[in-house]
Amino acid sequence: MILSDNFGRVFKYLRVSITDRCNYKCKYCSPYNSFKHIDHNRVLRYEDILYIISTLARYGLKKVRITGGEPLVRKGLPEFISEINRIKEIEEITVTTNGSLLDKCGVQLKKAGVKRINISLDSLQADKYAFITGGFDLDKIIENIKFAKKCGFNPIKINTVMIKDFNDNEILDFCEFAESTETIVRFIEFMPVGGIEWNYDKVLSGESILKIISTQYKVSNLNNNRSPSRDYRLSNGATIGIISPVTHHFCEFCDKLRLMADGNIKPCLLMNEEVDLFNIIKDRDDNRLINTLINILKLKNREHIILQERSFKNNGKPMSSIGG
Ligand code: 5AD
Repeated sequence: MILSDNFGRVFKYLRVSITDRCNYKCKYCSPYNSFKHIDHNRVLRYEDILYIISTLARYGLKKVRITGGEPLVRKGLPEFISEINRIKEIEEITVTTNGSLLDKCGVQLKKAGVKRINISLDSLQADKYAFITGGFDLDKIIENIKFAKKCGFNPIKINTVMIKDFNDNEILDFCEFAESTETIVRFIEFMPVGGIEWNYDKVLSGESILKIISTQYKVSNLNNNRSPSRDYRLSNGATIGIISPVTHHFCEFCDKLRLMADGNIKPCLLMNEEVDLFNIIKDRDDNRLINTLINILKLKNREHIILQERSFKNNGKPMSSIGG
């Protein structure tokens, strides 16, 4: 049996935030001071998450992305991923990370069955990188990206959130970085989900990004209609992607749900609603789980509303709890 929403979109993809803790304190992602982490006894255990993944795998789930907080801070991650990898319906397991711990567990993650990873990197300038992350070292991350390449992750995608007056003067540097490290840099429009105050003036549109890139390189379109990212090959040999959730949307292909570490699940990143599955998961109640999932999928809108309502405010969880 497959599960689909009111608009015929079939559910296939679960993003799982396994912790809301992160060793970094990125300004746009984690809230400042007042943030309270999820209580230990409210965090889903790995066996709980394996239960929901293996149950949903019988209902069409094929792709799992592990996120955080920072997923690599949670103990036992490679073993957990090996267990997911044993579920035969799951075709792909990916991880989104800040990259800081890849030197410690990159090899094990690859062995466990992760084929590709996404690494967040918002500046190629040491002082700005330290500023946005809360004091961390750029050189170390660049070393870790090279190490991840050696581990065999392919492709490695670099997530770069574009914030006006912060890193918009680094677009061409990132295009060179993509070429020299053989990674795919993906420029992401800044969304209203997170710590620092968001406003429309801080968003650099995908169009503007492409315009800047086109001043320096010949750009050819790599068609990939069903992906959130529009990918391009540049004349320097780099492949880059542009993700425009704010000025456009890619909702017509949305096949995902987001499970958070406290057992709440979100129908859409840009909706405040979430549904609590914690007890259903703890009870191992397959029927209630599937029936609730069917209802959660009905909550999905045809498309998100930030285009119409420029004032959309995330008053639910910050990005550090949702996992992107
Ligand atoms: N807008 C766009 N992207 C964001 N990310 C985190 N917060 C935002 C935001 N407000 C990205 C990070 C990370 C991924 C999980 O989500 O770059 O790589």
